[in-house]
Amino acid sequence: MAAHATGLASEWRREIVARSPAMERLLAHAQLAAASDASVLLQGASGTGKKLLARALHAAGARFGRPLAALHCGALPEPLLESELFGHVKGAFPGAVREHQGLMQSAQGGTLFLDEVSDLPLALQAKLMRSLVERQARAVGATQSAAVDVRVIAATRRNLREEIAAGRFREDLYYRLNVVTLELPPLAARREDIPLLAAHFAAEAAARCKKTITAVAPTAVPLLLTAPWPGNVRQLQHVIARCVELCAGSVLTAALVERVLAPPGNDFAALEEARREFERQYLTRLLRITDGNVNQAAKIAKRNRVDFHSLLARYALDPVAFKPGKELQ
Ligand SMILES: Nc1ncnc2c1ncn2[C@@H]1O[C@H](COP(=O)(O)OP(=O)(O)OP(=O)(O)O)[C@@H](O)[C@H]1O
Ligand SMILES: [Mg+2]
Repeated sequence: MAAHATGLASEWRREIVARSPAMERLLAHAQLAAASDASVLLQGASGTGKKLLARALHAAGARFGRPLAALHCGALPEPLLESELFGHVKGAFPGAVREHQGLMQSAQGGTLFLDEVSDLPLALQAKLMRSLVERQARAVGATQSAAVDVRVIAATRRNLREEIAAGRFREDLYYRLNVVTLELPPLAARREDIPLLAAHFAAEAAARCKKTITAVAPTAVPLLLTAPWPGNVRQLQHVIARCVELCAGSVLTAALVERVLAPPGNDFAALEEARREFERQYLTRLLRITDGNVNQAAKIAKRNRVDFHSLLARYALDPVAFKPGKELQ
């Protein structure tokens, strides 16, 4: 029985904190995909929530209540990976002292989640493909195959089209896994979710540290909203957890967030970045107040014209765009 049939209609997505239109669209699409029982490929950068969405898909579909078995395809060397996925019989290889059930079997009737599927070695991709087509799995060392009924959800942070072009991923397996693709947007593309996620992670970390954190200070929110977040939601989770650890009061202040976002040691990169940003803003303001008059702007900046032009070029600033009337066009 699907999770939504047992209670709240949104129960299946309970763990996913989101309010941005991008995520709402994605979750609506995910709910339809879950109901269809089709194979789903989850694409998205590291830390965007692929594992969380895989669990939610399982919870939203008809296989909820049946097992969800997960395999991290990059975590093991090939022989162990094969044995994890397909199982082995006793004596299949030195050290196989007893029979081992593979995840294909453990997921029987339920869902198999293949995390980082692009890490699956080519030989195993071939065996998996065969197994999915025939709906049979054969344990290592076994002479017979057994019927399997699993729904596959796969996740990858790599571009599988590029992996195919480079000869590292089988095209037929790609089509098999990719009946539906769900693309997790980077956190920077759904900044509306940041305040909600920050509050959620603050509560989570506070409970773990047995602290009473009541809020993220309103002045700290813009810092979180504008940070670049290359590590996506996981990075935000870590930043907030660190703030909670360091927090002496009950509110995460802007000073605290600032300190955690730019820890000492990153100062060099941050300074360089800040200097460029300052220079860009300075030049923009200069062009604005001189109406794009390069001679006048260069004079104020105490630079010769050639120097000044190369500075503008570095920041791709075009003085013509600052001439009066331009902004009205
Ligand atoms: N929308 C969300 N709401 C709440 N927590 C989230 C959300 N997205 C991600 N998280 C949390 O962020 C962390 C990273 O998420 P997850 O492991 O699902 O990402 P991933 O895409 O699988 O990353 P990777 O590619 O590095 O394996 C987890 O702790 C997860 O619980
Ligand atoms: Mg993951």
